[in-house]
Amino acid sequence: MDSFLLVGNGAREHAIAKGICRNRKVRLLAFMSANNPGIAELVKKSGGQMKIGDIHSPREVSEFAKKHKPDLCFPSPDAVLAAGVVDALQSEGFACAAPTKEAARLEWDKSYCRQLLKDFKIPGSPKFGIFQDAKQAASFIDFLGGQVAVKPAGLTGGKGVKVVGFQLEDASQAKQYAMQLLAARHGGLGSIVIEERLEGEEFSLQAFCDGKRVFCMPLVQDHKRAYEGDVGPNTGGMGSYSDANHLLPFLRPRHRDSALEIMQKTIEAFHKKTKNRFVGVLYGGFMATRDGVKLIEYNCRFGDPEAMNVLSILGSDLYDVLLQISESKLRKAPKFEKKATVCKYLVPEGYPEKSIADQPLSIDYSAIAQSRADLFYASVYEKGGVIYTQSSRSIGLVGIADDIEKAEEIAEKACGAVKGRVWHRRDIGTPSLVQRRIEHMRRLGAL
Ligand code: AMP
Ligand code: GLY
Repeated sequence: MDSFLLVGNGAREHAIAKGICRNRKVRLLAFMSANNPGIAELVKKSGGQMKIGDIHSPREVSEFAKKHKPDLCFPSPDAVLAAGVVDALQSEGFACAAPTKEAARLEWDKSYCRQLLKDFKIPGSPKFGIFQDAKQAASFIDFLGGQVAVKPAGLTGGKGVKVVGFQLEDASQAKQYAMQLLAARHGGLGSIVIEERLEGEEFSLQAFCDGKRVFCMPLVQDHKRAYEGDVGPNTGGMGSYSDANHLLPFLRPRHRDSALEIMQKTIEAFHKKTKNRFVGVLYGGFMATRDGVKLIEYNCRFGDPEAMNVLSILGSDLYDVLLQISESKLRKAPKFEKKATVCKYLVPEGYPEKSIADQPLSIDYSAIAQSRADLFYASVYEKGGVIYTQSSRSIGLVGIADDIEKAEEIAEKACGAVKGRVWHRRDIGTPSLVQRRIEHMRRLGAL
């Protein structure tokens, strides 16, 4: 029997664990920063082992690996990759299906990523500049007419980017924010990226990548804004949907092809530049604009919530796919069922600004099973057989059906089976929201 070490403990990791455990010949080992009750149950069922510790400590994770000798490791969250956990595991001789710290730089250093695309003449970047000096940043903001996105180069848990017209009112606020980021060394790298503000519809392309080729998963659209109608503060993602044809209703195949080509060229450029290979999941956040598909950013991992959409309909064996990736030879494109999916996150009252934590949830598991939805635990804990909320997103519920409308109804029904001080966005995946996306693309002349 093979064993698989998963590092991480969110709903995304619960989805990965579920995918791995569909293969009955694999024992699940989990190294988590807090006990995810769903992952813990799968560990137990598969006859595996788990430990709660510091997932960002290469030493602690390696110690656990040395004790249990996994055949394959999958450190999952971005900060874990940036901390060099894969490098530590590989140096002990363990196979990993995730990128090294150097490869994950495509995510943890936005300036490196933009520069790589520029140096290798890969299309898809907006106009951009990289700055360590606030005065130079300010004159570039003026050069772009004040219509900019201001980004710390380093990781900030998805909360560092501010865009004029959304979180920033005008050029003067953009300059102030740039100055503030540089003074505080926010993101830890001491530099910022200023980009031309793009307009369009965003989509996520996650791909399995064996170092040589990228294999496309179904496209997904995430919803970062907290409230219905896409307003309010940014969150880690309130929910997401994918369509049965693996495209999105507001995109054409050419949009997917352009995005995939940008990703393929990026991993080739990475190889040329470093002589090393990008191995793992590469997830491009793209925007379809009037001027074609633009790359917003790379993530070197599955998306959260997007992992729940795609892994719920993966027809191939996830363990096999990841094993082949780690050997740099994915033999054929992984298969996905021709189904639509809608994922909705239940989040604590007050989320994202002032979450009310430690609230009990009453979950009607049989109603969820009856509606044929999938449930993934995120930031919750179990005490005395009861699930309690913490301050981050609580539970992801995924509906799967022949079309988005039916999948949305299933997800909505499943959300209704969880009672307690949590809420969710009802509009994600509804026909009116999807229609708005299509109309937006038409208005922009981007369809
Ligand atoms: P990121 O952390 O780079 O994914 O950025 C967070 C969000 O900011 C994205 O999902 C976009 O909605 C927005 N964003 C980032 N870059 C740009 C840009 N150049 N133009 C417009 N919006 C952007
Ligand atoms: N879907 C947003 C993220 O995973 O970063």
